[in-house]
Amino acid sequence: MKPRERIILALDVSDYNEAVNIVTDFKEQIEIFKVGSELFTSAGPKIIETIHAMGKKVFLDLKFHDIPSTVARSSLAAAKLGVFMFNVHAMGGYEMMHTAFQTLSEFALDTNSVRPKLIAVTILTSMDQTSLKNDLNIQPGMSAQVKHLAAMAEKAGLDGVVASAEDAEMVRANSDKGFLIVTPGIRPSWVDTDDQKRIRTPKKALQMGADYLVIGRAITSQSSPSEALKRIESEIADA
Ligand code: C5P
Repeated sequence: MKPRERIILALDVSDYNEAVNIVTDFKEQIEIFKVGSELFTSAGPKIIETIHAMGKKVFLDLKFHDIPSTVARSSLAAAKLGVFMFNVHAMGGYEMMHTAFQTLSEFALDTNSVRPKLIAVTILTSMDQTSLKNDLNIQPGMSAQVKHLAAMAEKAGLDGVVASAEDAEMVRANSDKGFLIVTPGIRPSWVDTDDQKRIRTPKKALQMGADYLVIGRAITSQSSPSEALKRIESEIADA
């Protein structure tokens, strides 16, 4: 993969036109754009169709978490939209993940299309050890829980997980070579940390095992986004 192919640019806006402007600005440099619940709820599938019409790929970050049949049908809807990758919550359990995976595989076979990559969110990076224990009553530590959920996702047939750089090393060590790790919370040393806590530089995240880096403000909020992107690309090449 070329350095820039490892970057997923987060479209963290709610307005369709604003999102299209960002894609237009970056379409020469970026292959994959992330559409999350804010943008999808406001702009709908149209934004995905537009990004595809511009020749780019979509990571649909809607984190499905529901009963297996509902998640399977939502997954089918995502596949019909032709997204490159989307995600579910591993906390939805083995059956939920496996049914979604099987549904996608059957659809790809029936339509002779490429199956979207299905990845799992383990524990949200906004949660820490205390909230895991106090809010969710999960007694094992964070790392043990992430390890367990990532292993379950892999067993269910999923292509990978979303994981903080901090967890990436452990997931990489406990999974097969091709199991994808998609890592947000990326901050080069020359950028503000904003509200992210568990952050790593692009180089460090890749060294810890990440395959794809989800990046938003470290590019889009800089005075020269294209310059920021170039610097990040050279850090990636360095790793
Ligand atoms: O601007 P920044 O690079 O912090 O944006 C990161 C993107 O990754 C945002 O879209 C955010 O919602 C998303 N994300 C995250 N942490 C996760 C999962 C997704 O920051 N665990």
